[in-house]
Amino acid sequence: MLLKNRKLIVTGGPSREWLDPVRFISNPSTGKMGAALAEAGVKRCAETVFIHGTIDAKLYQDKPFRELAVDTTQEMLSAVASELVPYSLLIMAAAPADYAPVSVSPVKIKKEDGEMQLLLKKTPDILKNIAEGIKNGKFNNIFTVGFAVETNNVEEYALNKLKDKNLDMICLNDVSQEGAGFSVDTNIVVIYGKDGYKLQLPLLSKQDTAEKIFDSIEEQMKKLP
Ligand code: CTP
Repeated sequence: MLLKNRKLIVTGGPSREWLDPVRFISNPSTGKMGAALAEAGVKRCAETVFIHGTIDAKLYQDKPFRELAVDTTQEMLSAVASELVPYSLLIMAAAPADYAPVSVSPVKIKKEDGEMQLLLKKTPDILKNIAEGIKNGKFNNIFTVGFAVETNNVEEYALNKLKDKNLDMICLNDVSQEGAGFSVDTNIVVIYGKDGYKLQLPLLSKQDTAEKIFDSIEEQMKKLP
C-alpha cells in the first residue's frame, strides 16, 4: 500500500523514568526531528499522530496533526501499540530511556553522607515489542522506521539495529558530527533499507531531512509486494 493511504505514527522527544516525585532519568532529545517528520507526514499520509515525551509545546500545539503526550517508555509503548492499525507507517524518532529505577520512592529521597547506588532495570524496547507483535500476527503490514543515535562504530551499530529490531529502514544520526546533535535545527542522516539500500543525506534542516526520509520511504514502499 502506498504512503498516501497509510496512517503515520511518529514518536519524538525523550521519555522520563522517575526516581521519586521530583527526579527522573532522561536524555537531551528535543523532539525536533519527530515534530518535523509529523509536519511533513501530514502532506504525505492519510492521517498523522505524533506521540511525544516532554518537549517544547510549540512543536505540537496548533499543528495540523493529532498529538499524544506520554511520560515513560512503557507509556510510549502502550500509546504506539494502541494507535497501530493495519498498514501503518511507524517512525520511531523518539529517544526512550532504556533504564528505569528498580523502585520509585513515593516521597522525595533525602540525601545522606557518602555515595549513593542506583539500581536500574531495563524498560521495554518499543520497536522490538512491535516487531514481536508483527511476527505473531498481532499487527499487520506495518512499515517500521527506526533511528540510530550513535557516536562511534556508527554504520555497524545502525545496521545491527536494523536487523535486531527487524526494521524496514533505519536513519543513522551520528551525533559526534557538527550539525547533527540533539538540540540543533539541522541533521546529517544516512538512511539504510533492509535490502541493502543506502542514502547519505547532506547537512540539512530537520524539515528538509524529514522530506528526504519520506522520499526514501516512498521509494522503498513501491518495492513491496
Ligand atoms: N527505541 C525503542 N525502545 C527503546 C529504546 C529505543 O523503540 N526502549 C528505538 C528508538 O526510538 C530508535 C531505535 O530504537 O528508533 C534505536 O534507538 P537507540 O537509542 O539508538 O538505540 P537502543 O536500542 O536504545 O540501543 P543503545 O542505546 O544500546 O544504542
